Amino acid sequence: MSRGDEFGRRLADLSDRMLKTRHSSLRNGLEEMDMQSIDKYRDIQAEATEWRRYLHQHPELDYRLENTARFVAEKLASFGINHIETGIAKTGIVAVVQGGRGEGPTIGLRADMDALPILEASNKPWSSTTAGQMHACGHDGHTAMLLGAAKYLAATRDFKGSIALIFQPAEEDGYGDRLGGQKMVEAGIMERYGISRVFGMHNFPGMDIGKFGICHGPIMAAQDDFEIIVKGKGGHASRPHDTIDPVVIAAQIIIGLQTLVSRQTNPVESLVISVTRFTGSNSNTVIPDRVGMAGTVRTLVPGLRDFAEKQIATTAQGIARIYGAEVDFDYQRYVPVTVNHPDETDSAIAAARRLVGPSSVDDKLRVRMGSEDFAYMLEARPGAFIFIGNGPTAGVHHPAYDFNDEAIPYGIGYWVNLVETELGS
Ligand code: NI
Repeated sequence: MSRGDEFGRRLADLSDRMLKTRHSSLRNGLEEMDMQSIDKYRDIQAEATEWRRYLHQHPELDYRLENTARFVAEKLASFGINHIETGIAKTGIVAVVQGGRGEGPTIGLRADMDALPILEASNKPWSSTTAGQMHACGHDGHTAMLLGAAKYLAATRDFKGSIALIFQPAEEDGYGDRLGGQKMVEAGIMERYGISRVFGMHNFPGMDIGKFGICHGPIMAAQDDFEIIVKGKGGHASRPHDTIDPVVIAAQIIIGLQTLVSRQTNPVESLVISVTRFTGSNSNTVIPDRVGMAGTVRTLVPGLRDFAEKQIATTAQGIARIYGAEVDFDYQRYVPVTVNHPDETDSAIAAARRLVGPSSVDDKLRVRMGSEDFAYMLEARPGAFIFIGNGPTAGVHHPAYDFNDEAIPYGIGYWVNLVETELGS
């Protein structure tokens, strides 16, 4: 290669790179021009932060959300929203805001309101005032963000059709009953309010503030619970040969269940089987006549639920039989898979990207093996569930967790964007 050629090549390289740089900065500039400013939600952020911290100080559990529901209903009324139904599934609320641009469909926006039975260790000034109860999953933040969006949208009404604001109880635990998402659907809210599509949001510790994550199809797993009682023959711990020791049998069952995942399930499919509870004797010297154990199963496809239900029973019974023990088995199908619908997921991605830019929305988030009772709403109507970054906080359900108030304007902005584009003209 001559020096002239070399020089020519470098020149071509350089101009190519300059062109690319200009292209990408031009593209970023256009995207930014298209992006909404988060600043217009700053005023509401201050107010919504106060609401969030009030809710955090006053957590309530499952369906027993009397104070929380009263607080939410009062706020909604103060925004000039006059169609508010309370007492749905005990303490759930649906409030309707009509757009100012004429007829159109109704979309549902959902927040959960319940806390968890955990002793708070966040050391924040707004820590729970009720010992043993805390907002450890950020539902205080979800409620405050949807209230913030309600205030903004009730003031601007720059959309057609209507929005149905859904505030539900008992996402975490039904207190011996079914979960709140299911009960709200069973209470007929989708039909009564003509909701055609429904959207949900959850905070995500470890994801940066101002970022969103979502995926098409399954985004959270199904949750089933099981219980096994091993019935043997009790006796003195010094004379094991006179007993049928259910503790040793139960221990073998726990080990046996591990092979359902590692040896009998296709490795590319997801199955979690966790034994989490174990109750035996109250005494060091007594072999009990029975042992109870319970746990949870997480799956992403219906076939694996059938497999888990059948094989957990077969494994437990088979092992117990070897030793002459018996097994009682109970399997409860609890929360279904949370499945995002194609068009609504595209809408959610577009709304988030308009707010924070394309690179701040991960549209291929890996499915989570946790479960979420918004799944029931997605079984009733098409819709999508999105995660919003909560920054580097403790994980959800951790005693040191606290919802990050910096996420509030992004959450409000997402809801507003979603409504104004989905119900735009
Ligand atoms: Ni939660």
